[in-house]
Amino acid sequence: MWRGRDVISARDFNRVDLEELFEMARYMEKYAKSRVEFLKGKIMAVAFFEPSTRTRLSFEVAMKRLGGDVIGFWGAEGTSVEKGETLADTIRMLDAYSDIIVIRHKYEGAAKLAAEVAESPVINAGDGAYNHPTQAMLDVYTIWREFGTVDGLNIGLLGDLRHARTINSLLEILTNFKVRVYLISPELLRPRVETINYIQSRGLMLSFHTNIEEVIHELDVVYVVRIQKERFIDPLEYERIKGSYKITLDTLKNVKKNLIILHPLPRVDEIDHRVDSTPYAKYFRQAAFGVPLRMALLYLILQP
Ligand code: NCD
Repeated sequence: MWRGRDVISARDFNRVDLEELFEMARYMEKYAKSRVEFLKGKIMAVAFFEPSTRTRLSFEVAMKRLGGDVIGFWGAEGTSVEKGETLADTIRMLDAYSDIIVIRHKYEGAAKLAAEVAESPVINAGDGAYNHPTQAMLDVYTIWREFGTVDGLNIGLLGDLRHARTINSLLEILTNFKVRVYLISPELLRPRVETINYIQSRGLMLSFHTNIEEVIHELDVVYVVRIQKERFIDPLEYERIKGSYKITLDTLKNVKKNLIILHPLPRVDEIDHRVDSTPYAKYFRQAAFGVPLRMALLYLILQP
């Protein structure tokens, strides 16, 4: 079901796909710190036009752990993009040199364009404020690993729900499960209307809140994102809104025993560092799951 597929939008994957992916990721956990030869001879090209730490490294590590090789670049510096090469031409070259392309770009739709140009599968590692499907798969995988299930959980999303592409993709993925979603943000940072329309048409139960303290005692998961400063069109709006939410030890006084706090990282100031040593903090574990999850993705797509 995964073989040869592009991963551009979370909307393209159903529950059966996700369960297959999660089972495979669980299997790959065994190999996440060793080396196997499942993808020996395969080459992954990374084309990262925007900054990244975890996503790029975990893709690269995943490919190497599977016995494959990695080529590519991050930042256009040193590539022909500096000389004015178009995205389509750059992708055509990578397509000729590799078996799979992983792309991150500041423009929405860049990954889709790449997939149209390339014959090899293309994975979207984040395009603008729009999509970040593999992060969302990793997020739901972490929930599935922590609780053994996703159905029946109350999931709070806190922060810049409008500009964070991880939120957009996570909401889309969650429509495959029977969960209740609490959208907690300043009014200006609510998810975009087309996302809300889509998830509502798929029957996702949701409610809007502005204050985490009001609902935190009901939650099984709190998923926090930073304010996406670089995506604000109006800098004054950013100034007004920055620092408007934060998880501190105080926030966590009255919570469920098994609450987990997730964050795609990087964190700025939206989770106090003292929260890191509480049993609720799972964001570093979540980041570590990036390797087996991406091993599973690469293997399922490139399997012989
Ligand atoms: C996110 C991203 O790049 O969208 N980071 C990530 O991939 N782990 C989140 C962010 O930048 O806030």
